[in-house]
Amino acid sequence: MQVNSARIETINNDERPGAPLAPWTYRNPELFELEYEALFLRRWQFIGHVNDIPESGDYITGNIGRDSVIVIRDKSRTIRGFLNVCRHRASRVLEGSGSCRGVIRCPYHGWTYELDGSLMAIPQQENFPDTDKSQYGLHTVQVDVFHGMVFVRVKGDGPSVAEQFAHTAHFFAEYDVANYEQISTPVEEIWDVNWKVIWDNYLENYHIPIGHPSLFRLLKENGEWDELTSGINYGVFVMRDKPSRVENERLYQEQLHNADHRLPDALKGKWVQFGYAPNLGIDLYPEMLDFFQILPLGPEKTLVRGMFYGHKNPTPEELELRRLNRLINDPVNDEDRQLCERVQQGIRTDGYEPGPLALAESCIFNFHELIRQEIPVATLVKEPPRGSVATENLALDAAASE
Ligand code: FES
Ligand SMILES: [Fe+2]
Repeated sequence: MQVNSARIETINNDERPGAPLAPWTYRNPELFELEYEALFLRRWQFIGHVNDIPESGDYITGNIGRDSVIVIRDKSRTIRGFLNVCRHRASRVLEGSGSCRGVIRCPYHGWTYELDGSLMAIPQQENFPDTDKSQYGLHTVQVDVFHGMVFVRVKGDGPSVAEQFAHTAHFFAEYDVANYEQISTPVEEIWDVNWKVIWDNYLENYHIPIGHPSLFRLLKENGEWDELTSGINYGVFVMRDKPSRVENERLYQEQLHNADHRLPDALKGKWVQFGYAPNLGIDLYPEMLDFFQILPLGPEKTLVRGMFYGHKNPTPEELELRRLNRLINDPVNDEDRQLCERVQQGIRTDGYEPGPLALAESCIFNFHELIRQEIPVATLVKEPPRGSVATENLALDAAASE
């Protein structure tokens, strides 16, 4: 099912949320495949920032689970996206990030592609009689640039990133995200957890007082938040007036005003946290931005990637704030890992039935509803017999559209 941009609206979260997904959905390999197709290949995936590839020929690659894409600036400096698979024998063409000098060359047999993806040359062309080169360009993927952030969508169609953010998009202009640059190497970890456990955890703040004592000392929610049917939600945090007893946190509280000149009054001293379903967290701080991306590797294995961007030409005071931010938030990430791994262990337990969701966990329910819409078999409380998940899903989808 595609989200229709004309119908993107705010979700009313006043009512008590309904039931979350059943435990079997957090470990089933057949459902995992359906999720991967519907939620990862058919929805926008963050790859990087336009300032990661400033010049013609500059490229970044992005792995989305088992698929890989190339985002590259062509000769006219247009940003293009391709599947990272050679049209000859399927070799990955590029790795990591870097710059192609004029052409993209496959490292296996040397097929070369123009920066616009068209096939330019085949070594020993006489070995390929009657091969029409115009038929073997790199497969394109859709690219969308939203305030400098580059997203790709491998399959399907639907609203743009800007349409999905709807009336919350102005934050990115206010933080000047379009002009950010990468300020630190990405951090990658593999967690032994189903990807949805991590996203569920990202979506709720109910666990902060117990799970993240440091955040609880530092911040409080200020009641400003919103959630949209397109899978976007955001919430705003403000610093507590009471100084933290922990030195790094107190220093951060005391020095946060040093980034005030970056922001309009309404955003000074605040943290704004966005969730972009199904797998991208965006934390906007006065001094920097971090992305929290979760990429599914298997039913109980997920790559978690942190990426860090910020204003060019930071002041020494802003550099110090960034340092303090990481000293505070890196351990929070470790805490989330432990919390999520404990849930994954528990969710395998025979006989476990989910408890009620709090009002403060309504984002989880709304996310689960989004999954149920896209993949109707996820509505089932009982796990379907092995081998029948995809067919059951097709049957439920057909019944729903009758
Ligand atoms: S697989 Fe790329 S040139 Fe052969
Ligand atoms: Fe957390």
